[in-house]
Parts: sequence; C-alpha cells; structure tokens
Amino acid sequence: MTSDTPITLATLQGMKAQGENIASLTTYDAGFTQVLEAAGVELFIIGDSLGMVLMGYDSTVPVSMDDMVYHAANVARVGRSAYRVVDLPYHSYSDAGQALANAQRLVEAGGAHMVKLEGGTAMAGIVETLTGHGIPVCGHVGLLPQSVEEYGGYKVQGRDAVAAAAILADAQALEAAGAGLLVMECIPATLAAEITQAVGIPTIGIGAGPDCDGQVLVLYDMLGITQGRLPRFVKDFVAETGSIPAAIRAYVDAVKTGRYPAPEHGY
Ligand code: KIV
Repeated sequence: MTSDTPITLATLQGMKAQGENIASLTTYDAGFTQVLEAAGVELFIIGDSLGMVLMGYDSTVPVSMDDMVYHAANVARVGRSAYRVVDLPYHSYSDAGQALANAQRLVEAGGAHMVKLEGGTAMAGIVETLTGHGIPVCGHVGLLPQSVEEYGGYKVQGRDAVAAAAILADAQALEAAGAGLLVMECIPATLAAEITQAVGIPTIGIGAGPDCDGQVLVLYDMLGITQGRLPRFVKDFVAETGSIPAAIRAYVDAVKTGRYPAPEHGY
C-alpha cells in the first residue's frame, strides 16, 4: 500500500525507537523512484554509486556536483513520501565553506532532505557547520567508497579490535556533531550491532548484518543488473520474483520482517 504522507527524520527516529526496520534503496531517476515508492521504500539514498552503475566509471571518485544535482532533482520531481538523502561527491566537502555551498545546492536545486558525507571524527567540524546552518547530515562509516584508492580495493573494515573501536568512535563523533542518520558499510555484524546500540540516531546498514535500524542496497545490484562479481551481502531479488516491482516489494518485505540480510550476507 502506498501513501503520500511524507516520511521525515522524526518518522525514522520513531521507527528506531519502536524497533521497526527501515527499508532503503538507492535511486537516481524518476521512473524507478515511482516504482520504489509504490513498493513502500521509506528512505532513498541518491548515492554517488550512480557514477558506477549509471555512468560506467570504475569508482565513485569522478562523480561531480552537477551529476548529483541532476539525478537528485529527477528523484525529487516525482518523490512524494520517502525521505531523500543525497551524497556530497568526492572533493565537494574538503573544507567547511565548500561543504556548505555544495550542501545548500543539493537542498535547493536537488531537493535533498539531507546530505550524506563519508568519514568519521575528521568530518565532525563539517557536520557541525552544516547542521548549524540547518542542513541535516547523514554520516557514512566503515568502507568509504570515495577513499577506495587508499584501501587498495573494496574490503571489509573494522575486523580487528583497534579498527572496530575507531569506527565506533567515528559513529559517536558524528552523532555528537549533529548527524541525524548513519550509513555503515561493510563492517562485521557484531560491530554494527554495537554501534546501533551505542548511538541514538538510526543506523542504515549495507553489508553490516541484520542488527542495524535499517538496510540499504544499491538498486542495480539487487535487481541483478550490475555485471561482475558482487559482494556477498548483495541479493538478487529479481531472480526469485521475476519482475522489477515484485523484486522491490520482496526486498521491502524481507527487510521489514528481518529476513534480509540473512547470516550468509554478513561478515
Ligand atoms: O553511493 C551509494 O549508493 C551509497 C550507498 C552505500 C548507500 O552511499
């Protein structure tokens, strides 16, 4: 059943408090956005993953502000209910002034309800600046795709005690700086569960196990469109349903009922 009642950050906070799983997917255009809303997706991430799945780059690094504004605006034009988080792309938030100007552009021209940036403690000052100017911020910890060159590939983060403690500290620093949501990517399920307990803001996992407040996947991955080897947390929902709308409905249902992610999707 679809509803035009807008989902707000307060709605998502209430869902965390009630223990109701948040169903999230990435979206980048008007057509898919309408299918996703009809299926009950509650949180959209207009992610810079669009650089890989739509534009053919081999990382998110080349994605520009113009790319993000174009796709965010396509989503916002038809979006009715889901809360919209839009990525600040690589090198668009190198200092507070640049971050503020670009975040304001994502809100004004891209229709963002919230902007997302990658990084933890080092980003706290920028998060304070944005939230101080009334722009809600989503943090992103664990695997940071914009820094993939530094890691030498897409690898699970936080496997040892020191690295896990650093990611927990990152999450707490982002919350203290005013972040309202937190994406956790490719970290052990036990660490994601600990962070979800430790912070008051909703956590959204991708490759972070079942004990997050919500789940997100890259849309093209869960539709079986993305070519090549995919991480183990990805599940192809079209393979078992046969159509795109049915696959999205199955994903929402699996997230809401806690059937996705299953143990084999975690680290
Ligand atoms: O760019 C993206 O798609 C993301 C996902 C991890 C949500 O940031």
